[in-house]
Amino acid sequence: MAYVSLYRRFRPQTFGKVIGQGHITRTLGNQLKSGNISHAYLFTGSRGTGKTSVAKIFARAVNCLHPLEDGSPCGECDICKELSNPANLDILEIDAASNNGVDEIRNLRDNVKYMPVIAKYKVYIVDEVHMLSAAAFNALLKTLEEPPEHVIFILATTEVQKIPATILSRCMRFDFRLLTIDELVKLLMNAFDGIGRKYEHDALVALAQAGQGSARDTLSLADMCVSYCEGEITYEQVIDALGICSPELILNMTEHILKGDVDSALHELNDMYKQGKSISGISREIAGMLSNISYAKNCAGANSFLKLTVDMYERVRKVAADVENAKILHAMEVFCYLDGELRYSSLPKVLLEMSIIKACEISSDFTQDGILKRIKALEERAEGMALPIEGSKSAAPSAPVNGDKIWGEIIHEVIRDNASVRVLLDSYTPSCEVKDNILYAYFADENTCRVIQTVSDIIFDAVKRRYPEITALKILSGTGRTQTDIEIEKIKNLAGDGRVFITGGNSNG
Ligand SMILES: Nc1ncnc2c1ncn2[C@@H]1O[C@H](COP(=O)(O)OP(=O)(O)OP(=O)(O)O)[C@@H](O)[C@H]1O
Ligand SMILES: [Mg+2]
Ligand SMILES: [Zn+2]
Repeated sequence: MAYVSLYRRFRPQTFGKVIGQGHITRTLGNQLKSGNISHAYLFTGSRGTGKTSVAKIFARAVNCLHPLEDGSPCGECDICKELSNPANLDILEIDAASNNGVDEIRNLRDNVKYMPVIAKYKVYIVDEVHMLSAAAFNALLKTLEEPPEHVIFILATTEVQKIPATILSRCMRFDFRLLTIDELVKLLMNAFDGIGRKYEHDALVALAQAGQGSARDTLSLADMCVSYCEGEITYEQVIDALGICSPELILNMTEHILKGDVDSALHELNDMYKQGKSISGISREIAGMLSNISYAKNCAGANSFLKLTVDMYERVRKVAADVENAKILHAMEVFCYLDGELRYSSLPKVLLEMSIIKACEISSDFTQDGILKRIKALEERAEGMALPIEGSKSAAPSAPVNGDKIWGEIIHEVIRDNASVRVLLDSYTPSCEVKDNILYAYFADENTCRVIQTVSDIIFDAVKRRYPEITALKILSGTGRTQTDIEIEKIKNLAGDGRVFITGGNSNG
């Protein structure tokens, strides 16, 4: 007999066998029992979570002669037996991905009027319904509006956002959710027990984690392991078969990154290459491990859902305890970004290496050395800006400030915020100085001063934002670098608490 893949062999046949969608199977079961059924359903949710399976169960249940307690089909009566034959004419499965045109839907519309052959209801299951063309949706709409009494539609899709609102509003909608690790482990247990294979529990957890919430993906991966593993399905063999790095290796790597240890991280990476691990796999697993570390650090009892092995969780917690959240977040940012980039890169290996080094560098910025370096750089910047910093040289009351530098910075700020001012400031560059907390800007002539005056409020706002200690902006014509202290005093009084004013001619006059 030809080999039947696990996910086909273990397609649930009753509501009770459907894992993780109790909110849906219970509602449908109750509707069946009370006879209060709808004529159009929409099943949405991620791939491999049970949409088609539940649609098939429902299609048989609604026709079954002796339904079970929970509303499921009995599987024994004549109708159930007939309907389990894929060639039956009363449960019609239409794959919208390959029949997406208006002709197919018109055809469906014409056939809808014919009575079922043996059953009470004719059930149309339209899979991947989001693939229908706009014209086909319109044709379907007509039928959905007034379906004959003997017809039930079940539309299924992974992409509900592509379904027109007119269709949505005519269907009873059920959202299938991703399965948890525990649920997937249960599914795997059933499957392996069903085919009589022994397994280690950790092997099931590794498979469930790789399945990412999809029952079909998990069973497909399990299929691969069944062929790969000799005898018992062990954790080691599963890791090997899936081509994923062992969590220990990934944790080592992540720890090096968080400690800023480039040397060890790159050595570890080469070990992974040697084992034939894929670039994108390594990147994704580091991101996943960073997420584990973040959970372990910030969320008490996180392992109730992370489902790491006890030893592994202990190690993750230890790493998490020694590292600040900021470091974890920065590293996460690097690797989340990387996953998208890798898809389009012609040099994925270099990209991965670059990202590891980058993440290490960021982490070492947070070491004591790194922090001291950054403080020094900040102090130097502050000195240039004459911001008083306690204990630093710039705390002296009359530290020289470079007016031109301030102007340059202000221009940046104003330019960033205001395109029309940019044109003006680009055309006229003053020479500037700061004296006694007043910023003097000297333009070539009076006319320029008048032009600049029209935007002086905006400029002064920008100055105040960055240099609150500056009390006035004075726009002048001429060069005027030779003012005396007495004149500045006068200006300061005039300027009050920061009005902008304009003076014609040289300020010496
Ligand atoms: N909730 C579930 N409980 C048990 N098995 C499931 C469940 N969901 C999926 N499976 C398994 O996965 C296989 C595929 O499921 P199904 O075709 O119902 O998924 P689907 O949601 O329709 O996926 P797709 O969106 O790709 O069409 C089933 O044959 C079954 O083995
Ligand atoms: Mg399906
Ligand atoms: Zn039956």
